[in-house]
Amino acid sequence: MTRSLAKPAQRSELPGRYYTDPEIYAREFKTLWRHTWQWVGRVEELTNPGDYLTAILGEEPIFVIREADGNLRAMHNVCPHRGARLLTEAQGNCKKLQCPYHAWIFETDGSLRAVLHPQWFPDLDKSKIRLSPARVDTWGGFVFINPDPEGESLLEYLAGYPEYLSGWNHRFEDLREVNRTVYEDNVNWKFLVENYVEDYHFSVAHAKSLVPMFDVQNIRTVPTGRHIPIHVPYSEIPPTEPAQLRNWEKGTISYQGFIFPNMMINTGPDGASIWRVIPLGPERTRLETINYQTPAHYAKMPYIHESWGQVMEEDFAVVRLLQKGVNSRAYQVSQLAVEHELGVAHFHKVLGEYL
Ligand code: FES
Ligand SMILES: [Fe+2]
Repeated sequence: MTRSLAKPAQRSELPGRYYTDPEIYAREFKTLWRHTWQWVGRVEELTNPGDYLTAILGEEPIFVIREADGNLRAMHNVCPHRGARLLTEAQGNCKKLQCPYHAWIFETDGSLRAVLHPQWFPDLDKSKIRLSPARVDTWGGFVFINPDPEGESLLEYLAGYPEYLSGWNHRFEDLREVNRTVYEDNVNWKFLVENYVEDYHFSVAHAKSLVPMFDVQNIRTVPTGRHIPIHVPYSEIPPTEPAQLRNWEKGTISYQGFIFPNMMINTGPDGASIWRVIPLGPERTRLETINYQTPAHYAKMPYIHESWGQVMEEDFAVVRLLQKGVNSRAYQVSQLAVEHELGVAHFHKVLGEYL
């Protein structure tokens, strides 16, 4: 386990063009998204042999499949014949993989089983052709894929994050999806992350939505590895709004935070809300927010859809302001608040190692 306590930076040097430039965006694909572990789904979506999920990590089409022996296997979703996308659905079940272009057939372990009109390929050695491997691993019921077949394990990559979350008195393995909401907006993905990892904006943007629930003075940001756990204590005095009271828990904390490069976890008394940031272009980003509850949560407090909607509106409104300023010749980040903007400094530092 690596654990680094970054000092709060006074300044950040990430230039404005990093939030608009297609060249930087392309470089992020090559150096960052291609080599990091990213969350793609849940193990309960891959229960039976042949169950698969597809995803695009940066610009890497990938899939993960449950094999007959029960293991998960991840591979690049690209046919080695001429490069066509192999699996075209978001998820499904198959016993073998057949390319939709010229019908080559692959086993679920990636080996080539058969080609159409084999007599037209006199030199083909089937044993030399297979789907390109990626890596898959799980933690807490979450399935992570790394497009890079080599490098540190998921557990090394997570660098103490699971230990941080073990403070929550529920098992992440027991979570089941109860709601999914997707947002898309004209902002760079990094601005969404930066806004998430700082709490300096809470008393302005979330004065009515979050401030009554949380002790915002005492939020603590404690980076570990590339990631940014954020300890958010609940307020001493219970909020008066029923919806806020439901998400409030006396004397404990909400375990929140960011797993680099694009996952956010937020625990609460009624379950966990887990978010995924997906870049769609230099100035276009999708945010998927998925709510989970354990059976115990569900029995006690069935999920109510509205709980995060208002906060999201407030966050997108301020992130759009950042995107509007970034092309100005006057754009700068002159100072970052001690502690309460520490997450931004840490995110920039980690980005700098990739870019
Ligand atoms: S591209 Fe897949 S069989 Fe031709
Ligand atoms: Fe916010």
